[in-house]
Amino acid sequence: MYNEKVVEHFRQPHNMGKMSEPSAVGRVGNMLCGDVMWFYIRVEPDAGGREIISDVSWETFGCTAAIATSSMMSDLAKGKTLEEAIAITNRDVADKLGGLPAVKMHCSALAADALNEAIHDYLTKQARPIPQALAARHERIQKEMAALEERYKAFLSKDPKGQQGEAPACS
Ligand code: FES
Repeated sequence: MYNEKVVEHFRQPHNMGKMSEPSAVGRVGNMLCGDVMWFYIRVEPDAGGREIISDVSWETFGCTAAIATSSMMSDLAKGKTLEEAIAITNRDVADKLGGLPAVKMHCSALAADALNEAIHDYLTKQARPIPQALAARHERIQKEMAALEERYKAFLSKDPKGQQGEAPACS
């Protein structure tokens, strides 16, 4: 199902783990599969004074493709300016991984959304203007996160052992 590059990033993911004192954090989830992802970014000036994402890390509870795309997205975003990082698409991530099965493209969208949210968080904390495309994505992601949390609450409330609710699926 997965090519060698995807499996390699899944087995030996890059930049995985929580970052201490990040500049900003993005958290996203997928409504259908229930996977959740956090992206942490550190933003600093580079040697030439450009504001760049100097470090990236992530935590992902999800499928093979979610782990591999988190890993690849962190590689792509590191060292980029905010504008360059915003421009990275889930298609870029999938292409760099040598392709993903069509049913797994939504996993690469999750990684793109997580980075989007981290940048949105950074600009908000800095009281800076938010580009319109970033703001629109943020609004859509927040609605999805609220729906995901409702789904988990409903799942947990059906049975204390979690046996009777519709458990989120992942592969
Ligand atoms: Fe949920 Fe891949 S992100 S199945």
